[in-house]
Amino acid sequence: MSATVSADNPPVRRLSDWSDARFGDLADEYDTPLYVIDLERVRENYARLAAAFPDADVHFAAKANTSRAVLETLEVEGASIECASAGETERAFAAGFEGERVHYTAVNPPGIDLDRAVELAADHPGLTVTVGAADTIDRLAERGYDGRLCLRVNPGVGAGHHEKVRTGADAKFGVPYDRAASLLELAADDFDVVGIHAHAGSGISGDDLGNHRELVSRMGELARTIDLDLEFVDVGGGFGVPYHPDDPPLDLESVADATRDALGDLDATLVVEPGRYLVADAGVLLTRVNTVKEAPEATVVGVDAGMTTLVRPALYDSYHHIRSVGADGRAVETTVAGPICESSDTFGTHLLADPTRGDLLAVGNAGAYGYEMASQYNSRPRPAVVVVDGDRTGVAHRRETHADVIATETEVTWE
Ligand code: LLP
Repeated sequence: MSATVSADNPPVRRLSDWSDARFGDLADEYDTPLYVIDLERVRENYARLAAAFPDADVHFAAKANTSRAVLETLEVEGASIECASAGETERAFAAGFEGERVHYTAVNPPGIDLDRAVELAADHPGLTVTVGAADTIDRLAERGYDGRLCLRVNPGVGAGHHEKVRTGADAKFGVPYDRAASLLELAADDFDVVGIHAHAGSGISGDDLGNHRELVSRMGELARTIDLDLEFVDVGGGFGVPYHPDDPPLDLESVADATRDALGDLDATLVVEPGRYLVADAGVLLTRVNTVKEAPEATVVGVDAGMTTLVRPALYDSYHHIRSVGADGRAVETTVAGPICESSDTFGTHLLADPTRGDLLAVGNAGAYGYEMASQYNSRPRPAVVVVDGDRTGVAHRRETHADVIATETEVTWE
């Protein structure tokens, strides 16, 4: 039941495209706050992206959403996967990905991650480890690893929706471009060097196309300079999605054309690593209004989801569109705020129809970096996640309880 690219597969699903009746039923049955992820939309997003890059390997950046149901869905569709930690790599294998389709991108990896990656590579020799520092190469060698290696390069070009997610020109990520060729040739003595990697940043829009092109062209140039047969050139992910209802969708064809143009002739396979693009508009966060307060400066609507449920607004000032499910009446400008005792715990200003205690609100584009970044701050259990697929519904993560929050706490015994 693979999705195809057609009029039935629009480039964006807006919050208004979801069914209010379904939201109401889900909230009644599973309570709020609740993440809802539509697996059919994940398939559609994958199909559209894969069609735009027909010659590329599409690696899902698992960090956007590691729910097993999502990973299994993308595995069946034919995606490969990019993992940011040993934990994500384990989850990729548990979801059925073959070693050849798994990349582990190690950023300043703790020893425990490298130990585990080396063990996983022994069981799955197709696994590729991507390293961004000479130290990481040495640490892999110390562990006896001599398998597939990819070098993350710092292309000196960054892009993205917020300074906190622009990695491309940040010294933390990748080896400096000028040192990449010699390091690759050196590494080839001890490892199976299979590729090069760079990632400009996250949430790239049409305005960033110039930077994307620049990054890809530098990677193409590097691949042609070195005296190694590379299997692939990975130009990262970061394809943006429209968070505002008026934002246009990313023109994927232009991005794909610019990528091909900039890469130039190359024998190696192109790899792209989208996270957000595949899952953001497949997810919604449902939350219920518990307080409506008329303050002199604003009408504040208090809800049961907060920065512990969806941290993006607090962390990056991100906008997530919110609408009242099934409500009509006069639109009132409101500040939607959560139950956490800190002023960053707000979802911003929204026009809500006649806000009333008990209303159900839907927060859009919550499928990427939503549940994934949830926390237990203020001793708040993390929410539940349900997946829907056509008429079917299933629980992907049960709601946490207070017992889960304190599960790791031990009574201190002094020694
Ligand atoms: N590849 C690498 C090496 C990455 O570091 C990332 C994201 C991606 C691919 C996927 O980027 P995407 O296509 O999802 O934009 N928490 C932030 C985003 C951080 C992204 C970090 N790396 C947010 O909520 O906006």
